[in-house]
Order: sequence, then structure tokens, then C-alpha cells
Amino acid sequence: MQIQTIQTNAFDDQKPGTSGLRKKVKVFQQPHYLENFVQSIFDTLLENGEVPAGATLTLGGDGRYYNRHAIQTIIQMAAANGFARVMVGQAGILSTPAVSHLIRKYQTFGGMILSASHNQGGVHGDFGIKYNISNGGPAPEKITDTIFAKSKVITQYKIANLPAVDIDHLGETDFGGMNGTGKFTVQVINAVQDYADLMQTLFDFSAIKQLLASGFKMKFDAMHAVTGPYAREIFINRLGAPTASLMNCEPSEDFGGGHPDPNLTYAEDLVRIMFAGDSAPDFGAASDGDGDRNMILGKNFFVTPSDSLAVLAANATLVPAYAGGIAGVARSMPTSAAVDRVAAQLNIPCFETPTGWKFFGNLMDAGKVTLCGEESFGTSSSHVREKDGLWAVLFWLNILAQKNKTNSTPISVAQILKSHWLAYGRNVYSRHDYEAIPTDAANGVIQHIKAQFDRLPNQTFASHTDKSYMVKTCDDFSYHDSVDGSVSHNQGIRILFDDGSRIVFRLSGTGTEGATLRIYLEAFEPDSTKHDVDAQIALAEMIQIALQISQLKERTRRTEPTVIT
Ligand code: G1P
Ligand code: ZN
Repeated sequence: MQIQTIQTNAFDDQKPGTSGLRKKVKVFQQPHYLENFVQSIFDTLLENGEVPAGATLTLGGDGRYYNRHAIQTIIQMAAANGFARVMVGQAGILSTPAVSHLIRKYQTFGGMILSASHNQGGVHGDFGIKYNISNGGPAPEKITDTIFAKSKVITQYKIANLPAVDIDHLGETDFGGMNGTGKFTVQVINAVQDYADLMQTLFDFSAIKQLLASGFKMKFDAMHAVTGPYAREIFINRLGAPTASLMNCEPSEDFGGGHPDPNLTYAEDLVRIMFAGDSAPDFGAASDGDGDRNMILGKNFFVTPSDSLAVLAANATLVPAYAGGIAGVARSMPTSAAVDRVAAQLNIPCFETPTGWKFFGNLMDAGKVTLCGEESFGTSSSHVREKDGLWAVLFWLNILAQKNKTNSTPISVAQILKSHWLAYGRNVYSRHDYEAIPTDAANGVIQHIKAQFDRLPNQTFASHTDKSYMVKTCDDFSYHDSVDGSVSHNQGIRILFDDGSRIVFRLSGTGTEGATLRIYLEAFEPDSTKHDVDAQIALAEMIQIALQISQLKERTRRTEPTVIT
């Protein structure tokens, strides 16, 4: 194996966002673009010395277009940069939580996940790379900032002249080490097995199996993305569900032309099935491109991700892995405070972090939290260091199995939510996204709100009813990591009202076209006679106040959000 050093020119736009670097496929296809970024990652890792002897890199992606090309390039570059082994999922497939698990289980040095998550795929879609560190979690800001700095000054990268590696057949191949010395092996592993085994250790598979055999109907939509093979192994092979329980389980390079984002807008086929009245299945779920997101539905019922986190926390002891209780919970700042109420009742700590899974890693490593979640359809626990779509689905099934075991009348998803709200009150919640707006207009909206920071407190906004809303405080959220002492600024604008309602404005860090402005709306409703009110109606006044404060319509000329969740 010979190592080549290739001269290159730096790009100035390789800044990792909320979750890795995401760009249009066309951008990644520019000569040296992929290589520059990968070398910048390696240079960052090597800053404190060489790659340790025998180090393994875990590698896989969500099967989107350009995955296969990138895998070959990264294998060649890992070889040239001193890795002894690359562990790659068969056909280049590995879900994000599976990579996290493999890094932890086999104690690999780190991992690369090739995915732009829920963004569209295909030649005209997006591609992305995320780097995960040895705890299995996304690289923290300190590392991603260094990667960006290095990408701006890079002048060369190293690549080995390996033949194309057959990633479709299981097994390990030795290509010989650098310049003929040592070993460099590529191990192609079963992408599903280790992950499915892990799930089986966490959940009561026999109880879930019994539930699924009792006439309880489920539908899981893999959205033509990475969880298809995982779902087949877990739900069909191990839990005995009929094959009709699954849809869109064949991964495709462009996700069947769809948007692999499990929400009410983009998972419309599943939503139609789950809202088909009496004939609808009892339970529905979907997962995103790389398998870390989840959407949970009941018969004619949508569970908001914030509520889902709260329900999982409140019912955790029904699941074998959490039977002894949970240490604490964490949620991203824009996620509703529903889980805070559960934590208070359980007398466990609840942490509020910035958006993005990377902020949960330290808390989990320190044993301070067991469950974490984001309003953006992300939920998980310390079994890995990523959010985990199928884990959340199995958690719900385990809860349903237990609740239905001890009750003669079936308990539905909707009933679980309603009794949860009865016990804790309801944090009514919605997020409005305005996608692909001109960057200047989006920045203008944020500046306009910030310019009002001095005057907003104590200002009262009238409503159509007799109610009025007074602003208590507003700020741009900063996070102080209690484990490593780091501080992250500018994490989203919060406007808090005296009745506990809240509006949050944030610019997305994952989009690839213009800017995406997210408005997160929340109000607390203790009165159970009002728990059935549709969130858009219950939050109508908050929505008007958000538009008034932001001048969003005037500044962006948008009249409607692109996506409402
Ligand atoms: C979005 C979500 C965030 C999530 C991230 C990766 O980031 O809001 O919660 O962690 O995707 O899945 P954003 O586009 O808002 O920066
Ligand atoms: Zn994802």
C-alpha cells in the first residue's frame, strides 16, 4: 500500500452545523471537497499525537446517494492516516444509533456517519458527514470548531492507493500497512445484528411479542431509509409481527423521492393510515434518514416528541433496562417542559441544553442523566450516545405491552397521553418552520427581535379573549456545561411570559438552502376539560404574538409556515 500526499486548496464553507457537515451532493462532488473535510477531521484527531496503534474507525451511512463513493475514499484516507482497521457496515449501511453502539461495544477510536439525516437525498439532494468520538457521541463543539479551523487552512491530504473494497460481502481483508509495513484491514460487518441484540437486552421482547400476537396492530414506516433492515430483523424476525406491519423498508439512494423526515407533513402516507378512523392500526411510528429520529402515533392520535419524552420518563420503570429508575433527564431548550414536571415528581434532576445531541454526551458520561430528548423527534437514553428512533418505538411498545398485560380493557396511546396530562397538566406545544428563506431576511428577523430585548419585559400583549400576556423575561440562551465547564452562547431567543407560556426563535443549523427559521410555541394547560383542544387553536394567540414581535411576515413575505409540527 502506497501513501500519496495530494496538494489541495481550502474551502471556506466546511463549518459543521447542529449535526455534522451537510451540503448539496453537488458541493460534495467538487474535486477535493470530501477529502479536505475528512483530512481536517483526521488532523484534528491527530493534534494531540498519532492515531493510537491498532485504532479502528467505524464507518457507515444511511444509504443515500454518494455514500458508496465516500466510503471508498474514507477507507483509503483512514489507511493513509494511520488507522489499523476500518469497520464498515455491509453495503455501507449503518444507522446513527448503530454506529454509536458499535463504537462503544468494540471500543473503536471513533466513527464517521455518512448522512444528511432527514434532508432529502439523491443526486440533487443533500449529503453529509458526522464524526463521533470514542464515547459513541457526536464530536463536541470544541472538536467541530477545530475541524472547521483546519478546513480553512488545509493545503494537503493523505490517501492510500487501495483497490476498491468489496463492502457488500461480510468478512475481513488485510491490505497490508503503510508503505508495506504492518496491517491495514477492512472488516465488513452485519449492520443490524449488534444493534438488534442491544435492543433485546433493554426491552421485554416476550411481552412485546405477546402484545403483537394479541391482535394489537402496528405500522412502522422506514421512509425508504436506513431503519428498513433493522425494522425487519427486530419486528418481523424477533418479535413476530406480520410483514404488513412495515412499510417503505427498502433503503433507497433518494428515499423514494421523498423527504425522510418523520413528521406529520413528510410522513404523510403513514399519517393517512393512522388517521383512517376505526380501521387505523393501534400504533404507528416512523423514523428518519439515518434512524435517529422517531414519530409516535396512536390510532387517530399524534404524540408530540416533547410529550413522548415525558411519557417515557414517567413510565421508565416498566422497561427492564430502567426498572431500577432513572438518574435524571435532559432536554434541549426548545423542547417543552413536560418532562420537567415528571422529573420534579420523581425528584430527579432535569437539565436544559442547547439544540443538538452533542450537548447530552457529557451529562450521560457523568451518569447525571439516563433519558434525553428533543422536540425535533429525537429521544434516547444512555444505552448509546445518539438519539435512537427504533429504541423509542420499542420503548412505547414495551409500555403498551405492560399496561395492556394488567388490564382487561385495552389501553390506547391516546389514553396513555390523556392520563399523563391529567396527572401532570398539558404543555401544549407546536413548532412552526419557515424553510429556505433568504439568509438576510432571516438574520433581519432575529436582529429585530434582539433589538427589542430592553423593551419587551413587562410589555403586555392583548388577546381576542379577556386574557393578556405579559413578557417576564427574554434572552439569547447560553448554556454552561456543568461537566466540562464550557459555555455555548447564542443558542436561541427565548421570550418567557408570566403565565408560563413561551416563544422561542431559532435559526436552523442543518439546512442547506437559505435559512430556516423555527418558532417554538408553548403554553401550559392545567385544566383537564381543555386538554383535547387542538394545539394550533390553543396556541393561536401565542402564534399571533410571535408574528407581531418578529415582523416575520413583513420581513420574509411568507404568509404560512412550511412545516407545522
Ligand atoms: C435539527 C433539530 C435538532 C436536531 C438536529 C439533528 O437541528 O432542530 O433538534 O438535533 O436537527 O437532527 P436544526 O436544524 O434546528 O439546527
Ligand atoms: Zn437523523
